[in-house]
Amino acid sequence: MIVAIVGSIHMDFYIRLPKLPVPGETVLGHGFTMLPGGKGANQAVACSRLGAYTYMVGRVGNDIFGEKLIENFRKNNVDTKYMEVDKTTHTGIAFILLDEKTGENMITVAPGADYNVSAKDVDNAMDAISRSDILLLQLEIPIDTVVYAAKRAWEKGVRVILNPAPAASLPDEIYRYIHVLTPNRVEASLLTNINIESREDAVKAGKLLIDKGVDYVIITLGAEGSMVISKDFVRHIPAYKVEVVDTTGAGDAFNAALAVSLAEGKDIVEACRIANAAAALQITKLGAQSGLPTREELEEFLRKHRQ
Ligand code: RIB
Repeated sequence: MIVAIVGSIHMDFYIRLPKLPVPGETVLGHGFTMLPGGKGANQAVACSRLGAYTYMVGRVGNDIFGEKLIENFRKNNVDTKYMEVDKTTHTGIAFILLDEKTGENMITVAPGADYNVSAKDVDNAMDAISRSDILLLQLEIPIDTVVYAAKRAWEKGVRVILNPAPAASLPDEIYRYIHVLTPNRVEASLLTNINIESREDAVKAGKLLIDKGVDYVIITLGAEGSMVISKDFVRHIPAYKVEVVDTTGAGDAFNAALAVSLAEGKDIVEACRIANAAAALQITKLGAQSGLPTREELEEFLRKHRQ
């Protein structure tokens, strides 16, 4: 299987805290650490660990973080041939505050080079994108580039998964290019103006997005699992129960495992079940990439936790 990702690449700066601050409050934390992150990069590393040949299309700055992040891709066997080192700005940076009691986080991002990922970068990578089974996209690069990449992939018959994170509204044009849209509760609410408090609300929102032209919508509901919604059916897939350390990157693990499973021909419901398992494994370790499972780890977990 081949997966291409056009997306963001960050160095994540973590601080662990006894509780998350409210505006104006200072909370003393500990355990400062820097770890590779960025939704695009996390999804690329995850796809590669799960056994897909993986192309990363994106930009880092000409700085020490960029060097480290490219090295991290190489260590994880991600193909960086279509990446650029941008001399005009810094590498994308994320500050992550982690509540060590609940594993919940607050994230802010300075996108830097991410925001220079352009249609030209997509054109340069079309060889790889056309050869891919799946193109995986998120919303940490300019929206015009996301729409352009989705359109070019769709024209070539490549299935597009859009993880609409972080939450932002989408232009109507993009929906018809999308095979699977994977919002969480907050993102789905923003895209549909439906306040999602129950599974029924999720189905309503999903149907609305299907009417806009998407083949499948999967709304991820954290500990409540995921809802798969298509024109013809709705399925609830329960979450796996694990000890939560850090929820950062759960969505990235989910989307990558979904992409790899669809690339290898699994149906959408089975792919979603596998994606739930990958997300469960990711949240058992600190860092957006530390818990991303290898294929063997994921298969072992699925064997132990038959649903
Ligand atoms: O999805 C998690 C990621 O979001 C983090 O790695 C951080 O960089 C932000 O982009």
